[in-house]
Amino acid sequence: MYETIGSPVNLGNVTLKNRIVFAPTTLGVPNDAYLERIEKIAAGGCGMIIIGDVPVQSMPFGNNLYTESGFAFYEKLAETAHKYGCKICAQLHQDDTDLGTLRQYAPQVKAGKLTQDDLRQMINDLVGPYVTNMPVEKVHSIINAFGDAAVLAKKAGFDVMQVHGDRMCGSFASPLFNKRTDSYGDSLENRARFLLEAVEAVRKAVPDMPIDVKLAVRMEQPQYGKAGFTEDELKTVVPMLEKAGADSFHVSLANHASLSDTIPPANHPYFHEEGCFLGFCDTVKQYTNLPVCGVGGLTSPAFVEEQLKTGRIDCAAMSRQLLADPQWTEKVLSGREKEIRRCVRCNKDCLGGMMRHEGTHCIYEKGGK
Ligand SMILES: Cc1cc2nc3c(=O)[nH]c(=O)nc-3n(C[C@H](O)[C@H](O)[C@H](O)COP(=O)(O)O)c2cc1C
Ligand code: SF4
Repeated sequence: MYETIGSPVNLGNVTLKNRIVFAPTTLGVPNDAYLERIEKIAAGGCGMIIIGDVPVQSMPFGNNLYTESGFAFYEKLAETAHKYGCKICAQLHQDDTDLGTLRQYAPQVKAGKLTQDDLRQMINDLVGPYVTNMPVEKVHSIINAFGDAAVLAKKAGFDVMQVHGDRMCGSFASPLFNKRTDSYGDSLENRARFLLEAVEAVRKAVPDMPIDVKLAVRMEQPQYGKAGFTEDELKTVVPMLEKAGADSFHVSLANHASLSDTIPPANHPYFHEEGCFLGFCDTVKQYTNLPVCGVGGLTSPAFVEEQLKTGRIDCAAMSRQLLADPQWTEKVLSGREKEIRRCVRCNKDCLGGMMRHEGTHCIYEKGGK
């Protein structure tokens, strides 16, 4: 009944055992709990797990590939996924938060004079000047870091590299943020250069590894998302990315809108339907024959099977549905569909938990609410 969901698919030279992918998801929990969650998701039968936000540069906090403990953590994640025949992908990521400038506001945050919302607004306001005024030497060093991180991620056991086309790459892509007048700004070719060079750096560093590109799409009518490329720009950008070394695409709405646009709840005014971002995949599909992974509110096995079977998408990525029920794939493929705990897209404890700095969880962990 769900033969397409259960069928293998190739991303470059790597074969996924089925079409279900755990979408990149920041979990915000300690490493032991993180490993436990990833183990449950891998054991639940999906074909690939994308580890969200793996920094391409060494960071003073959190895990990164450049420290002994960080590298060991990523090695353990890869080992854990592989135990279940699940492939693992590193989302190579560069943040676009101007930490240097932001640090100046630390005393006001500490004194409670700035709220979390003020801070979020401030972070967004700083993005434009940050990417516009970044010295070109720094631009080059970040791009090179994508290659360096890919070498380490490969060494740690990752099977696939995802270049996160949003955040820094997405902000360079968008004229709403990027006002540069050099070869990284103004024309579409120049705004796309940061992402293209990041993909090229990964291709050069790990020539034999599949590269997936998370393509962030900015919607103009109605306006949603501020970073990334418009749908109209995709006809130019997708072939350029393919030439730069992309083996597949993961397509979603661009960042720097409200997080409840990129992670839309069921009552979202526009993206309330299952498969809410698949229209962007339809556009990408017009310009490439490479595999395209869809994401956004996917929960129903019949709907997912239909999208895969008709070739609208080649893989189906889920974040919240696999948080709600890591065994979704196993249940679907073994005729136990009725036992699935369906994500109701309430955002209460996943996005909500992340925003409250309590870590990413799900209402079902507490027996439902
Ligand atoms: C708690 C949470 C954290 C997320 N973290 C990331 C991330 O680190 N990188 C990323 O590209 N997307 C991230 N996303 C977005 C998801 O990958 C996905 O695109 C989005 O949730 C829509 O898919 P869904 O309806 O299956 O949840 C996150 C989503 C959630 C719910
Ligand atoms: S908290 Fe709600 S939206 Fe989030 S994963 Fe659970 S059911 Fe889905």
